[in-house]
Amino acid sequence: MYRLTEAQKTKVKDLLSQMTLEEKIGQMNQESMSIVGGFNVPIGEVVEMVEDGRISMEEFGKIMSGVHQDYHEDEIRAGQVGSLMVQDPRKCNELQKIAAEESRLGIPLMFGFDVIHGFRTVYPVAIAEAGTFDTDLFARTARMAAKESRAHGVDWHFAPMLDVARDARWGRVSEGPGEDPYLVTQFAKAKVEGLQGDMSAPENYVAACLKHYVAYGACESGKDYNTVSMANSMLYNTYLPPFKAAVEAGAATVMASFNDLNGVPCTLNPFTLRSILKERWNFPGFVVSDADAIRECINHGIVADKYDAGKQSANAGMDVDMGSQVYKQYLQQAVESGEVPMAVIDEAVERILSVKMWLGLFDHPYVPEEIMDPYETLPKEHTDLALEAAERSIVLLKNENGILPLKKDQKISLVGQLAGSKEEVIGAWAMSWEEKDCVSIQDGLEKAGATFQYYPCCGPETDLNEEEIVAACAYGDVIVAVVGELVNMSGEASSRADITLPGKQRELLEKLLASGKPVVAVLMNGRPLALKWEAAHVPAILECWHLGVQMGNAVARVLFGNKAPEGRLVSSFPVVTGMCPIYYSHPSTGRPGGRSKFTSRYLDEGFEPLYPFGYGLTYTSFAYDQLAVQEADDALCITVDVTNTGNKAAVETVQMYMQDVTASIVRPVKELKGFAKADLMPGETKTVSLRLNKKDMGFYLDDGSYALENGVFRIYVGGNSRDCLMQEVNIQF
Ligand code: NOJ
Repeated sequence: MYRLTEAQKTKVKDLLSQMTLEEKIGQMNQESMSIVGGFNVPIGEVVEMVEDGRISMEEFGKIMSGVHQDYHEDEIRAGQVGSLMVQDPRKCNELQKIAAEESRLGIPLMFGFDVIHGFRTVYPVAIAEAGTFDTDLFARTARMAAKESRAHGVDWHFAPMLDVARDARWGRVSEGPGEDPYLVTQFAKAKVEGLQGDMSAPENYVAACLKHYVAYGACESGKDYNTVSMANSMLYNTYLPPFKAAVEAGAATVMASFNDLNGVPCTLNPFTLRSILKERWNFPGFVVSDADAIRECINHGIVADKYDAGKQSANAGMDVDMGSQVYKQYLQQAVESGEVPMAVIDEAVERILSVKMWLGLFDHPYVPEEIMDPYETLPKEHTDLALEAAERSIVLLKNENGILPLKKDQKISLVGQLAGSKEEVIGAWAMSWEEKDCVSIQDGLEKAGATFQYYPCCGPETDLNEEEIVAACAYGDVIVAVVGELVNMSGEASSRADITLPGKQRELLEKLLASGKPVVAVLMNGRPLALKWEAAHVPAILECWHLGVQMGNAVARVLFGNKAPEGRLVSSFPVVTGMCPIYYSHPSTGRPGGRSKFTSRYLDEGFEPLYPFGYGLTYTSFAYDQLAVQEADDALCITVDVTNTGNKAAVETVQMYMQDVTASIVRPVKELKGFAKADLMPGETKTVSLRLNKKDMGFYLDDGSYALENGVFRIYVGGNSRDCLMQEVNIQF
């Protein structure tokens, strides 16, 4: 965990005392490779110009051939760069050599990168992986990613993403572990442990970066980068807990979010950065801005110019400027004029140097030759882990007449452009994979020895191919239709106002169903979709998300029943898009949703989600009985009997929720407070024990104080957030 020895602290202080102001500001400046020459407009605009046809691809290529890449070598030599975004180990070593051997004080660089769900070995997107409810798995996949990236020079992951997200229109729901603060908190702690925990050698750990601090997931109307407004009690109870827990678990760095929170951008927000993070939580690491976010405070209309943006950000506690070059250009002037105290700079630089010291960069600045880039072929241990994570993340949403699992002798028509694609298995925010390592669903069925024919027919953005549809309907005993979203339809800057299946894929399903053959919809997507029509018409639906390099093998194993579905939804699925945002733990209303008109509901679609948080079927069924809640001094001890009532072995995710029935502020109708896994053979019953510490039964008030209030609590236990047994207890703290 992130902690320095006394000797390391002394070294940092010594170094700091030798630094010029310019060198200090250099540490606060993060760069990425820039393209020089060719265009005199920013690269973002060039991309737009290609997209809207202002320049052709040919012209673009011609201009690009005349540009060169600038890694800021001269500035590194002059001590003006503290960190960079690079992922090539040879390049990292080359630049590190300049920093460590040619700059005046030899301070090494940090190399940061977006390693959100795997580096070379890509595992499922977080919204899928979180559905395994397995904290040990969360940590193991993070450890694997840390090792792989460190061998590529990357010692700082811009992960985990801890944004509680309740609006499926927001493209970034795919990057995070869902809508529930308790589950996101468990995910947060496990990821920090996985990334930072193995300090046996420098090549085994990286610095985590908790993002996006804070409340980015609540962006209004699910539109990316949008404004956020909420009561402080909501902030403390829902959006801050994962960050707080990850800070307590020893995370080394934090990234501030793009959004404003109650009128103040998080980039220069003294309340969130200074008062809460650094003072109240005693966070010892450093804070980095999001990309270009310091400069963008001008667009927020909160500062007049870059000078002011830099001054306010630094004073608020923003330690590192990611890429806007505002610190580099204006901070010296702000310090010299006395508007940014030297103490603010010293504090930031001490934090940055401390993380570098803890990473071992002063003693081991280079990627050693013997571990450099060893992943030409992915190690079996890594692909096995990616397969485990992928197959355990799959959620069975519907299975009428036991269509699934498929039988090996059934002839299958495999349909959908997505089924044949290797690159679409990867998911948003993965950049270091290679196509040769990706297993498409078509590949997966082939490897599983299935009897099948493949008919692409239609994709998220392509038209229907009638001939192929006719052939698909004629061939199989069963049709497996792979439908969903392209990778670039979720992730950053990928909000969608309509979250039904894109393009003509619903029409495709209609045509396939018209054949009268059983149809299984295999969904590949990065967010909850509005599946009202599909749920009503398609007999079997398997939610497979973007599962990473092993996707095809995982899907085949679940389709054929080698693995019974285990994954759960960590994000509620609305019936229609207009229900967003939707989440199970909403605050109690005076008129809870019900049948009658004057309740909290929609005239046309009622109030219930299509599939609730925690939901997921499998190839057997489970029954719950004998819920008992015993009060001990400091905790409630909860037991429940869970029986496998079907004829297949499977794993049940037992979920425990709590409701504080009467409190001094309105509380959620239910809050997840614990979970356990039960591996059950057919007919087997297990008594599952769960524990709820009394200290965790409270909530935060608007002023940030924590209240434990006596009274009646309801304890719910079940297989999802909707279908639970319930017991009331009266607790006097
Ligand atoms: C913008 C994204 O919001 C953030 O998640 C990412 O880490 C940075 N860019 C760096 O790529």
